[in-house]
Amino acid sequence: MNTERKIPLILDGDPGHDDAIAWVLAASDPRFEIKAITAVAGNQTLAKVSENCRKIAALLHLDIEVAKGREIPLIADLMTGGDYHGETGLDGAELPAPEHPYSSRSAVALMADVLRESEDPVIIVATGPQTNVAALLLAYPELKPKIRLVSIMGGGLRNGNWTSAAEFNILNDPEAAYILFHAGVPVLMCGLDVTEQAMIYPAEWQTLRGLHNRVADTVAAWLDFFSIKLKELGWEGVTLHDPCAVLALSHPEIFTMKDCYVDVLLDGEYTRGLTMCDWNGRTGHAPNCRAVLGLDREKFVSLLIEACRGFGGGEENA
Ligand code: BDR
Ligand code: CA
Repeated sequence: MNTERKIPLILDGDPGHDDAIAWVLAASDPRFEIKAITAVAGNQTLAKVSENCRKIAALLHLDIEVAKGREIPLIADLMTGGDYHGETGLDGAELPAPEHPYSSRSAVALMADVLRESEDPVIIVATGPQTNVAALLLAYPELKPKIRLVSIMGGGLRNGNWTSAAEFNILNDPEAAYILFHAGVPVLMCGLDVTEQAMIYPAEWQTLRGLHNRVADTVAAWLDFFSIKLKELGWEGVTLHDPCAVLALSHPEIFTMKDCYVDVLLDGEYTRGLTMCDWNGRTGHAPNCRAVLGLDREKFVSLLIEACRGFGGGEENA
């Protein structure tokens, strides 16, 4: 990414510990300008994740509108991820109270206005189910040229995590994912192929506590909480899924990527939500996404630590 003008971003997600950490990374990068935060039901109910969005905005001193999005997927029933993210969807750290009321606009209306009003095309970083994004694409197809890219955490070209075939965000709303992948807008896909390699280990996140700033301490506390359930499942650290969708934009050099055709399977007892990659180009379809497949883990972790360091030291803990 090399630009003199700031790149406008919309952060759409279901925070969620890793969504929140992704937004810390986005807020820390002076090359980005966060235009809006939009909440979507996923890791917890819409009411809970929306509240988390406002608290994260307060933590990061983001003076932007936060809008509530879709309460349920387009067609499917909502599955929440409370086992991983706790009762609030973002358990583990005391957060500042929200500074602003919710936007009077819905997530889709706010996204549409941001796109319409932006001089430069906008990147949408979607780290929850793609429900809001699909609703936007259906309601305002004329705004597609204003979307520079949709960077998602979702899917897995070789495996799932919620079922053998499907990843949580895609399985929550496969129809929304299908609409996105067939919309003709550029998609950057960080699936489990890369995100399960994006590990941070306890000794690494302990260093955040030495930075003496509230954002770093909060990230460390989030990681402590997020690690509890993952440890029960045999993971030695935390898989930082959603931060990949931001760092693959800001630091593509630490990732490997491949342009390919990806389709989303909508039925089958075992296959609903599977993201199918046409690895060898046998379908004859042109690539519809850039899939992120690997990363330099140590550089990834040091970028997170440096981002947290950038939020200053000392005074906020006083
Ligand atoms: C995805 O599911 C959620 O629990 C995380 O926030 C991430 O977006 C990983 O499958
Ligand atoms: Ca998420």
